[in-house]
Amino acid sequence: MKELSVKLKDGEYKVYITSSMDRFSQALIENKIKDKDSMFIITDDKVYSIYKDSIEKFKKQYNVKEYCFKEGEENKNINTVQGIYSFLIENNANRNSILIALGGGVVGDIVGFVASTYMRGIRYINIPTTLLSQVDSSVGGKVGYNYNGVKNIIGNFHYPEFVYISTNFLKTLEEKEFQGALGEVVKYALIRDSNFLNFLNENYKGILEKETDKMIHIIKSSLKAKSEIIKDDLNDRGIRNVLNFGHTVGHAIEINSGGKLTHGEAVALGMLTSIKLSENICKLRRDLYGNIVNLYEKLRLPTKYKVDNYTLFMYAINHDKKNDDKIRFVLLEDLNKPKVKVEINKKDIINALKNSIS
Ligand SMILES: NC(=O)c1ccc[n+]([C@@H]2O[C@H](COP(=O)([O-])OP(=O)(O)OC[C@H]3O[C@@H](n4cnc5c(N)ncnc54)[C@H](O)[C@@H]3O)[C@@H](O)[C@H]2O)c1
Ligand SMILES: [Zn+2]
Repeated sequence: MKELSVKLKDGEYKVYITSSMDRFSQALIENKIKDKDSMFIITDDKVYSIYKDSIEKFKKQYNVKEYCFKEGEENKNINTVQGIYSFLIENNANRNSILIALGGGVVGDIVGFVASTYMRGIRYINIPTTLLSQVDSSVGGKVGYNYNGVKNIIGNFHYPEFVYISTNFLKTLEEKEFQGALGEVVKYALIRDSNFLNFLNENYKGILEKETDKMIHIIKSSLKAKSEIIKDDLNDRGIRNVLNFGHTVGHAIEINSGGKLTHGEAVALGMLTSIKLSENICKLRRDLYGNIVNLYEKLRLPTKYKVDNYTLFMYAINHDKKNDDKIRFVLLEDLNKPKVKVEINKKDIINALKNSIS
């Protein structure tokens, strides 16, 4: 088992990274969570159906109640939040209660938000079950939901008591979900950790096979990178911006693909365009692009995307600004040397798109 401490302004919390749920009760004790503290496990219907037997066993063992909502990004909304509030009130949840989020990023974001608001804030534990939530969303304290079609527009910062990661969950994950999250993994290696980049290049076979030690290594390295970046910017005012590397173009590709590409796959493509822009604008060395394309091929990440209509595409990148406005990018001056808030012309973005993924 590996452990990681995530530093906060006043204190820290632990992330346990291991291959099963066997050490969970030990983690409860270590974090001073007592039997008399009422616990509520909250998950989505897909996770529940796959892990029904273990969840039912856990409920008996710890005397916890469970609430399940419909899976998917479209249910990351106020109705789901209200459903959980009602469930908690009906079951007399109080200030000592603890919520357990069991699921992917949607469950983690929603349950964290409910925990941050119910009775002005109660404790929660995060058990992320997708690769994306294990390498990314379970750390950082951002919680929230989508409203009126705007992603994560309602939200808060609320940190869990601890995060417990079991790589066993990844075995049941759909291939596309697994693959996409590798895009975010490469992001951490690019912006922060060149040894990790070497590890990915050397161990891609074991990673695709989901070998336990490889999974534990990529989760720990990604979360270490993320927690180091956010520790100086807990409220997301500046340096945290580097986490958006690849995301400006990535978001537009995600929308443009109409659901064909996952978020992580789209971000992977966005990073290639950002690397190309970095060559021209930040004098980034020119061999990195080819090296990263090679790595993508090893990890089965996409390297090409056809943009049919650049006008529509640019609108997706920056729909609320006029044509001549500049757009802010995170670029790379060198490997692991990101530069935030670089203003780029639309023309340069289109050129970079044409010279990279098109
Ligand atoms: N808070 C943050 O800092 C942060 C960072 C990145 C992403 N996010 C959010 O995370 C969400 C995406 O997370 P996600 O990709 O985990 O999506 P998700 O929670 O929708 O999970 C994807 C799918 O996998 C299923 N699933 C979960 N665990 C499984 C398992 N072990 N086996 C089989 N199926 C399983 C889910 O039911 C769902 O159908 C987005 O809403 C995004 O905004 C938040
Ligand atoms: Zn992302």
